[in-house]
Amino acid sequence: MASNARGHFSSKIGFIMAAAGSAVGLGNVWGFPTKAASNGGAAFLVIYLVMVFLLAFPMLVAELTIGRHGQANPISSLKSIWTKNRTLAGGFGLIAIVTASFILSFYSILAGWLVSYAIAPTIDLAGFHQASNWLVDFGVSRNLIFTVIFSLLTILVVLRGVADGIERWSTRLMPLLFVLFVVMILYICTQDGAMEGLKMYLVPDLSQLHGGLFVDAMGQAFFSLSLGCGSMMVYGSYLKKDVNLPKIAAQVASIDTGVAFSAGLLILPAMYVAKNNGVDIFTESGALKSSGDLVFKVLPAMFETMGNIGVLLGFGFFVLMVIAALTSSISMLEVPVSCAQDELGWNRAKATWLIGGLILLISIVICLNFGRLFGLVADVTTVYMQPLLGVAWAILVGWIWNRNKLLNEIKQGYPEIEQGFFWKIWPWYVRFICPVAIIMVFAYPLI
Ligand code: TRP
Repeated sequence: MASNARGHFSSKIGFIMAAAGSAVGLGNVWGFPTKAASNGGAAFLVIYLVMVFLLAFPMLVAELTIGRHGQANPISSLKSIWTKNRTLAGGFGLIAIVTASFILSFYSILAGWLVSYAIAPTIDLAGFHQASNWLVDFGVSRNLIFTVIFSLLTILVVLRGVADGIERWSTRLMPLLFVLFVVMILYICTQDGAMEGLKMYLVPDLSQLHGGLFVDAMGQAFFSLSLGCGSMMVYGSYLKKDVNLPKIAAQVASIDTGVAFSAGLLILPAMYVAKNNGVDIFTESGALKSSGDLVFKVLPAMFETMGNIGVLLGFGFFVLMVIAALTSSISMLEVPVSCAQDELGWNRAKATWLIGGLILLISIVICLNFGRLFGLVADVTTVYMQPLLGVAWAILVGWIWNRNKLLNEIKQGYPEIEQGFFWKIWPWYVRFICPVAIIMVFAYPLI
């Protein structure tokens, strides 16, 4: 497909917001605090920051560069680099598509909970207590209905295409979410018990470090920056050639990490405040009770302590979270849709409805077998597939892509790069350190 027929982000800030919109989502506000809380708090935070800086950020530059070079869907972009073995390149692209689709299938279920939590307090205020209980209690019918609702929202935004759908949503609403975070953090820190949570989050206890924590932190970093499955390649492909890729990647990674860090600042103190207020979060031995719904227990408990303002704030928070989840889910669906458009010649509407519908079917199967499938799908895709695909992209960029061609691509938008520190380190880094480090993190718990 000719590059001028493709949508482009109309401004740099639009792109940063869209890519940050892809990155910021449930991974930051649900995944990161949950993992930090169940992995010793500060110990996890430290390793997570190391993983983002040393592994995820260089890989983000790599994926954006692959995408911008190809100016096409991930399959074509990969083929355009691996010209000698286009079939294999396409095969890896296909694995990425399947992974992105399965991630979306469990993501929609989680995001559906956000929708139901957004409307529950209002329904409760209106006097429909039973209905509001149904909305916040775990149940198959609730899960199914809200998964369908969220999936339809995703499909509707993707139908509108890149600049129109994605950019507009992200630019307006992401900053608002951040402001709300700051307000909530300030509030929670005035409550009894908050300091205990802050201490757990910020004072590292290095005896908590273990091999599994490294694997978890790496998976979380890849998930949070939307790496491995082509989302960032697609977004890169919508970038114009005058953009400085390392710089823009650093901005996106900083925003994403800032939001995850703030979410921890909110959730970990809120955990202990909730405990103080009698919500049972810990077992008698002090371990976390079921961690998956931690955030969904702790935040409503906090809003309750705030009276009527809490209802309003709770509503605002969950609505904005739905939107943050939506700017992430569209970046997942965009992967198979853009491939089907270019590779199979489908039009956007057909590709979006068919693929979105198929992924919704998978979500429904997961809902109906939640206990068996949800954790399994989430772990296989995020803990294993994402970093392993990362190894593939590192090998592609580090070993297969001709160094001069890579330089020429990345030079556009950053002409002085050759003299800088980044270019002295990064190609070697992606070539040797990234693949070896990712594999070592996996191997470590096995030894
Ligand atoms: N990064 C998003 C989050 O933190 C999720 C996400 C969007 C994603 N696109 C992705 C994860 C592609 C993996 C792959 O919620």
